[in-house]
Amino acid sequence: MKALVTGISGFVGSHMAEFLLAKGVEVAGTIRQRSRMEHIAHIEQDIKLVECELRDPISVEQMMDRERPDLIFHLAAQSFVPTSWNSPIDTIHNNVAGQIHLFEAIRRFGLSTKVQIACSSEEYGQVEPNEVPIREDNPLRPLSPYAVSKVAQDYLAYQYYKSYGIHVVRTRTFNHTGPRRGENFVTSNFAKQIAEIEKGLRPPVIHVGNLQAKRDFTDVRDVVRGYWLALEAGTPGECYNIATGSCCTIEEMLNLLLSLSDVKVDIQEDPLRMRPSDVEILLGCSAKFHADTGWKPEIPFRQTMTDLLNYWRGK
Ligand code: GDD
Repeated sequence: MKALVTGISGFVGSHMAEFLLAKGVEVAGTIRQRSRMEHIAHIEQDIKLVECELRDPISVEQMMDRERPDLIFHLAAQSFVPTSWNSPIDTIHNNVAGQIHLFEAIRRFGLSTKVQIACSSEEYGQVEPNEVPIREDNPLRPLSPYAVSKVAQDYLAYQYYKSYGIHVVRTRTFNHTGPRRGENFVTSNFAKQIAEIEKGLRPPVIHVGNLQAKRDFTDVRDVVRGYWLALEAGTPGECYNIATGSCCTIEEMLNLLLSLSDVKVDIQEDPLRMRPSDVEILLGCSAKFHADTGWKPEIPFRQTMTDLLNYWRGK
């Protein structure tokens, strides 16, 4: 069994690779010339790295012709919401074109590859108070170019399943975090600030954006187990929420992190961290995913945040 992980050097990609190796699966993964390798340095000997620019159809076609994987975990994406406002077209192009090129290569070579598409709870966007916990049949009301790119990925996956019978499973993952989370994302950003304050590298002031948003956080290690189960037991063509079913405000998340440290800090709102429109609440129902695959989250949030803080402490 051979799996291809797109974006293998990224946060989720590196955890996916570790999970697959532990399962005894042969792992290949796409990287780009400018990819940073620190997240996969410890497993580089055990995986095959293939240079591939997903936005380039020829590059994807050549890679797929060589690799012909049984499974694809399509994790490569521009995944930071604020970046999508700075350059909407880059996010749309990057996220949508890469996926089309993968699907077209599967079609061209007549492969029976099973494909997991990493969609997002951001697709739900504007959620009404009576719509939580959010189920898969909730309307999609995206509030950022990033969210629109994920809606496009989601519906393209559905369309390629319907039109050509490609075995596609769409996962709409709610926020996820853990060791190696990029420093722009809120959990890592706050954990890194705290770790630096602990070391005396910065004054005891935490810079924050909108603390009132509510998010449902799953540990990345539970998420990659979910992606595996999605292809093992999920129904082709379906979409599934991956979420814990409980949420907290960003302020509560910050307080949890602070409770794991001895530092005393001031909290300062930074206008540059506020968004043109922010999703108020994302709280997911993953009953459908549980029913089809047996998945449920196993790692408590406190453990995830402890591991994240220790990651930034360098432990
Ligand atoms: N990044 C960041 N930095 N966010 C902050 C900050 C800050 O200093 N302060 C408050 N926030 C708020 C944001 O406004 C948002 O409401 C929430 O914290 C989470 O922000 P992010 O961690 O940047 O994640 P996201 O919710 O925008 O998107 C993440 O989750 C999606 C799934 O719902 C990303 O991982 C996406 O790729 C993923 O699809």
